[in-house]
Amino acid sequence: MEQKSCLRVAILISLFAISCGRELKSAHKDNLPVYNHTLAMTLVEYASAVYLKDLTKLVTWTCSRCGDLTEGFEMIELIVDVEHCLQGFVGVAKNLNAIVIAFRGSASIMNWIEDLYWKQLDLKYPGMPDAMVHHGFYSSYHETTVRPGVLHAVKRAKELYGDINIMVTGHSMGGAMAAFCALDLAVNQKIQNVQVMTFGQPRIGNTAFTSYYSQLVPNTIRVTNYHDMVPHLPPYYPHLTEKTYRHFPREVWLHGNGSTTSSYPVEKVCDGSGEDPNCSRSVAGTSIFEHFTYYEVKIISGTPGSCKIVMDPRVADYSTQDLAGNFVLYRDPSAASVVEVKTESSTPSNFI
Ligand SMILES: *[C@@H]1O[C@H](CO)[C@@H](O)[C@H](O)[C@H]1NC(C)=O
Ligand SMILES: *[C@@H]1O[C@H](CO)[C@@H](O)[C@H](O)[C@H]1NC(C)=O
Ligand SMILES: *[C@@H]1O[C@H](CO)[C@@H](O)[C@H](O)[C@H]1NC(C)=O
Repeated sequence: MEQKSCLRVAILISLFAISCGRELKSAHKDNLPVYNHTLAMTLVEYASAVYLKDLTKLVTWTCSRCGDLTEGFEMIELIVDVEHCLQGFVGVAKNLNAIVIAFRGSASIMNWIEDLYWKQLDLKYPGMPDAMVHHGFYSSYHETTVRPGVLHAVKRAKELYGDINIMVTGHSMGGAMAAFCALDLAVNQKIQNVQVMTFGQPRIGNTAFTSYYSQLVPNTIRVTNYHDMVPHLPPYYPHLTEKTYRHFPREVWLHGNGSTTSSYPVEKVCDGSGEDPNCSRSVAGTSIFEHFTYYEVKIISGTPGSCKIVMDPRVADYSTQDLAGNFVLYRDPSAASVVEVKTESSTPSNFI
């Protein structure tokens, strides 16, 4: 009923490009998350580090991107899904007093972006009537070794550090995975204090999905960079209401103000609609270059299209591997050794 009348209203006022979701959403204005610049500067460094291919340096947190605001990070698990070329880690940031979960975006980014122009909403999100999502993004988190790895690591981190906040981050497709992970933690693990910050994230679901998402994971910030093309994809068609992809709030748009072209000093905190016409939607998504650098932090690493990883064989001793070659590196922050073999019986079934 409500949807039908909403649809009618939307058709009437479509000239102004205002959609139903937006109308409904503005009722929750007070719940909008607060943008914290310092936190963004910190989390973007995690979203950048997770792209690195030297797993030894990542797991010991001695990589070239493992310093500065992320210094002292305690890695718990580094998850490498070789089969699907995915990578993520879970650890504890003492200075944030939080568990940090970071996901890497796709390595073959150019092919991936091309596909996004035409990508249909092709999966019903389980348990949420009318919610449709992008199957590829959903499955990268839900149907790979990533999810069991993350859930196991979160459990271990909570055992070691107590019930501290969880911050989930990622760039590009890694941002999409971060959103699905946070929703999973909120819905299926009943974890309340989950916070999300993504960088250059594509759209992942329709209006119904977006409404559920923003109620269940309200503390979400989606940073977009000037003309970065990825946040424009898959396209948003305001007049299609339920058949279109739509972003969840809250966007923070980094842009120039005419005085400089090399960096984008203005951080515009956008409205609660998820599709603020005065944020990234006010410009065309024409730049891939602006997808690769956020807050002057370089994100993509190495040759795009390559899933190569580098690892000291000694580190491989501290891992479990499944038949497809996917593995998880474990680290015990309380142990003297750098990494320690996991011996618990609660090993997820798809790990040996
Ligand atoms: C912003 O985040 C930083 C780092 O987590 C924290 O120290 C600071 O207190 C936060 N500021 C506000 C206003 O919440
Ligand atoms: C642009 O932003 C910079 C840095 O915030 C500021 O110093 C400058 O005055 C701004 N210029 C204009 C034209 O708004
Ligand atoms: C967008 O910004 C302009 C001024 O720059 C303002 O007049 C307009 O109301 C804004 N639109 C929305 C939807 O916030």
